Amino acid sequence: MYLSAIVLAAGKGERFRSRLPKPVVRLNSRPVIIYSLDILSRHPLIKEIILVVNSLNRGKIAGAVNKYRIPKISRMVEGGARRQDSVYKGLKALDDKTDLVLIHDCGRPFIDKRIVDSVVRAANKYGAAIAGVPLKSTIKKGARIQRHQDTNTPGSVVVVETIDRSGLWEIQTPQVFKKDLILRAYENFNCQDVTDDAMLVERLEHPVRIVKGSYFNIKITTPEDLVIAEAILSKCKGKGRGKGK
Ligand code: C5P
Repeated sequence: MYLSAIVLAAGKGERFRSRLPKPVVRLNSRPVIIYSLDILSRHPLIKEIILVVNSLNRGKIAGAVNKYRIPKISRMVEGGARRQDSVYKGLKALDDKTDLVLIHDCGRPFIDKRIVDSVVRAANKYGAAIAGVPLKSTIKKGARIQRHQDTNTPGSVVVVETIDRSGLWEIQTPQVFKKDLILRAYENFNCQDVTDDAMLVERLEHPVRIVKGSYFNIKITTPEDLVIAEAILSKCKGKGRGKGK
């Protein structure tokens, strides 16, 4: 099996509001992106890693990859306007020998070998597999009420419905697909806006398996997430996470 990884780091990180690009912000002294690159590059089945970056963070990410001596990076390609455009550019850069593609957001530093193994195993068998965890929260759909011009009261949101959460999963990365399948999905449906890669495969009506990810596999999106990530690292020291170099 020739397994390639695409690691996405081309987002603008607007919700993160920091001076440094999110992929190179320090988490317990190491740049965020290095955590997942370390796990992926040490995985025995992964043969190459394609890094998708943007023109503003390219130099800093290249510097971090060199400093931490991350092997297997075959290419650094420039991303696109939407996440899915960045993935498509990564797909176009894959080695001809690739038959399985793992796609991962660099903002999720806490993947581990168990998660990678189970998603890869399921994708190899069924063509498409993604990591996820059962939803813990109550989910409601809300609708914004217009601000009252006459009384000057602020607009607010009312509940339209509560979604039954049984059977609902919060989806993470990594997501792994057979190369032909994910390319076909992108070629057919990339014009439609999606928030993950599996959505495009679902549009081909190909079944996508969900395998158990981890509640630690958080996505660092806003500054609060960095505080949570630091707490995870301090609790998990010595259990394989946060080994500083
Ligand atoms: O915006 P969102 O949080 O969904 O981004 C998830 C991942 O996709 C991040 O790793 C981000 O860097 C990446 N991304 C990208 N190109 C974009 C937008 C997001 O590589 N245009």
